[in-house]
Amino acid sequence: MTAPEPPYAVLAELTHRCPLACPYCSNPLELETRAGELDTDSWKRVLIEAAEIGVLQVHFSGGEPCARTDLEALVEHATQAGLYTNLITSAVTLDRRRLDRLKAAGLQHVQISFQDTRPEGNDRVAGFPGAHERKRRAARDVVAAGLALTVNAVVHRHNIDHADEFFDLALDLGAGRIEVANVQYYGWGLLNRAALMPTRDQLLRMDAVVRERIPGLKGRLVVDYVVPDYYAHRPKACMGGWGRRFINITPSGKVLPCHAAETIPGLAFETVRDRPLGAIWRDSPAFERFRGTGWMPPPCRDCDRREIDWGGCRCQALALSGDAAATDPVCELATDHAQVAALAEREAARSDEPFVYRRHS
Ligand code: SF4
Ligand code: FES
Repeated sequence: MTAPEPPYAVLAELTHRCPLACPYCSNPLELETRAGELDTDSWKRVLIEAAEIGVLQVHFSGGEPCARTDLEALVEHATQAGLYTNLITSAVTLDRRRLDRLKAAGLQHVQISFQDTRPEGNDRVAGFPGAHERKRRAARDVVAAGLALTVNAVVHRHNIDHADEFFDLALDLGAGRIEVANVQYYGWGLLNRAALMPTRDQLLRMDAVVRERIPGLKGRLVVDYVVPDYYAHRPKACMGGWGRRFINITPSGKVLPCHAAETIPGLAFETVRDRPLGAIWRDSPAFERFRGTGWMPPPCRDCDRREIDWGGCRCQALALSGDAAATDPVCELATDHAQVAALAEREAARSDEPFVYRRHS
């Protein structure tokens, strides 16, 4: 067994608590409790361990990371360890005073998610009245505080026709980057797939808008565009490949190759409470299971894209084919590919499907 390359980034899910209730959330259906969360000192140790094994970036996420009162202390610790720090937040509880404290602690970047460009649609999807107004205010505070801002536009069938407005919103707020991210169907998102899936026509219209806007935004707004998997011909290189670039740490300290890995039966995940992060990254059976290309079935095994998309997404293969070790069915070379677009079209037609809002039990 050869040692893996150092990971590039850690997603530190500080808590699963969140004031919003978005039905597209990729957190697991069984959310972790506050009582089970890692304490401040444990997170500090983990941040040092991350830097020691070569991690460059830490993304503080959740749930809502601002629910942790020790966020400033963790940002400061990560900064001192030499990590680039990003805060991924709903921003509804973020005010200027806290932003100033986070900036003083070393925070470099803030990513704020928007559920829609329009207040009514945004607040309905978020399950939080007034969320849109709070987000706009917080985004302006981020820019005023001199921090880099990314607008995360989470796209689904209820807002996909507002793609144009998302660019205007990001420009108006002073963001340097926008992530136009079609919903990924994991966790609560998978549960709500039929309520969120856009139609193919909607997708084609959005695609045209995005491609038309990108040239005019050059030098003003960086655009990251995540296409919806279910209508694609080739899968995404999920996480840049399993166990290659990325570590996800849950609020209780479980170390995962991706946010949905716990849905895969038969994998056991180690925790930073029991073993150092570097040891888990190096040889944990869960990371080894789909690392590299040795696990691949045909046609991936002989495909010239096998070290480009790394076989797509294991959690998606499980969700769509019932087998995490199968070729991702989003790939048109997979035997069950045709069923994926058919499923998307069927679900997109269920226009009155209600949301199941994310909730902490
Ligand atoms: Fe990627 Fe496998 Fe499809 Fe080739 S066959 S494009 S490696 S998913
Ligand atoms: Fe788990 Fe893609 S989300 S491998």
